Amino acid sequence: MSQIKIGVLISGGGTNLQSIIDAVNNGQINASIEVVISNKSNAYGLERAKKNDIDALFINSKEYKDITEFNDEIIKQLKLRDVDLVVLAGYLKILTPEFISEYKNRIINIHPSLIPSFCGGGYYGERVHNAVLEKGVKVTGATVHFVDEGTDTGPIILQDVVKIDDDESLDSLKKKVLNIEHKILVKAIKLYCDDKLIIKNNKAIMKG
Ligand code: GRF
Repeated sequence: MSQIKIGVLISGGGTNLQSIIDAVNNGQINASIEVVISNKSNAYGLERAKKNDIDALFINSKEYKDITEFNDEIIKQLKLRDVDLVVLAGYLKILTPEFISEYKNRIINIHPSLIPSFCGGGYYGERVHNAVLEKGVKVTGATVHFVDEGTDTGPIILQDVVKIDDDESLDSLKKKVLNIEHKILVKAIKLYCDDKLIIKNNKAIMKG
């Protein structure tokens, strides 16, 4: 099976990116990371890419007329490298319909809650965890899903849960969830690269 070429979009520290880099480097995932693209010049994830000899691009949305031209530039950079699978690993900009149709069912996102709870517009990063603590739910978790035209609405690939203690803090919860994010993101990408996933009736299921 030919190796899948991955492009990773980030906006921050890149610990999810690091988990993918590590899994590719140790052979757990049969793929190559061709490029890491960030909309933030100071995203530490760009350093993580450079340390692993991966093309690391800062694409400044302010240099483009609008979100469409900005997305077109990202698509151009992905296509230049024959990227098959796009992974959003803490990427905070919206994807245009053109982008999503170009990579239909080939964009994977990691979200720090159990979709459909605490997701959609305005639910990202710490805001998710604050809402979880505010609501007083007893479990939360993370979700890996395919990206469609909605926000956090695409077919769910994998989820995992964490228990919330009565004295849970924002920091302790962030750490707990991030830990399982790393695990399920790598597992989901491996399932994709091993061609183990199909989408039926807008649900992602594992081939028998
Ligand atoms: C993670 O919490 C992820 O769920 C969310 O953004 C954060 C990215 O963290 N999408 P990192 O940049 O991968 O460390």
